Amino acid sequence: MEEKEYAYAKKKIRELIKVDLDNYGAAQMMRRLDGFVARSKAPNVASYFKLLEKDPEEQVRLRDFLTINVSEFFRDMVHFKVLQEKILPSLLEGNSRLNIWSAGCSHGAEPYSIAMILDRLTPQVRHRILATDIDISILKQAEAGGPYRSAEVRNVAKLFGTKYLVFRDGAYWVSDELRERITFRQHDLTRDPFESGFDLIVCRNVVIYFSDEAKKTLRRRFYNALKPGGILFIGATETILDALELGFQRVCTCFYRKTLPAARKGQTSAVTAELRGV
Ligand SMILES: C[S@@+](CC[C@H](N)C(=O)[O-])C[C@H]1O[C@@H](n2cnc3c(N)ncnc32)[C@H](O)[C@@H]1O
Repeated sequence: MEEKEYAYAKKKIRELIKVDLDNYGAAQMMRRLDGFVARSKAPNVASYFKLLEKDPEEQVRLRDFLTINVSEFFRDMVHFKVLQEKILPSLLEGNSRLNIWSAGCSHGAEPYSIAMILDRLTPQVRHRILATDIDISILKQAEAGGPYRSAEVRNVAKLFGTKYLVFRDGAYWVSDELRERITFRQHDLTRDPFESGFDLIVCRNVVIYFSDEAKKTLRRRFYNALKPGGILFIGATETILDALELGFQRVCTCFYRKTLPAARKGQTSAVTAELRGV
């Protein structure tokens, strides 16, 4: 795809499916779009976008492709173990009712995994878990609590047996009791306002296609949305190279703490020191 075609594609995508590709890395996005158009019925980019204008189903297909909804319960389990054994207990020391945001939650496996862990750690407490995604159709599945394929729930059985899942109509569903603990909402991380006062923000495998500039802006906004001492939990293949500049202290792989004023002057909190070995 040439630059001119990409500029046209960005304009049509912004108009028709409300996704702003300026926030995504250009070279990678051009390659992905080339592949997508080649697999469509259209012979070239211009005719693909003509077709897109008239075909709402194709608009949904393209939006799904651009946003990629792949997820599973306890994805990269080793990091959920750290969340359960170190991060959440340390947050609970300072605050008995946590305010958590799963940003880019896809079909809900991520916030439901967090709700399961919290139910084990603090069975009597109803924490607030907000879960958002840009993609309204995937949020419908999240809100319904399923259906999930066995590959997507494979880690649940290892950790919690059959406690939170029911098997119905050939698929897995989370229990109503768990479903009621999450608030799902449509939200675009690149354009919508952020709430603040979070103890934990989980944003994993969402920014992989974002441009460096969009990633930096997003992380600055996450910093502002966290309470002092709050934690940002990112994907296993991601790192925040400019963490210190942004005001984050790396706790261990995937976890960054919004530094407290004292820590910025060179002190290290006890939990951060302990986690250095993780
Ligand atoms: C690969 S899934 C990750 C799901 C989950 N966080 C995980 O790690 O398993 C990426 C999700 O990010 C969402 N997403 C992409 N761009 C977004 C944006 N600008 N704002 C909010 N969500 C976005 C997609 O719709 C998709 O559901």
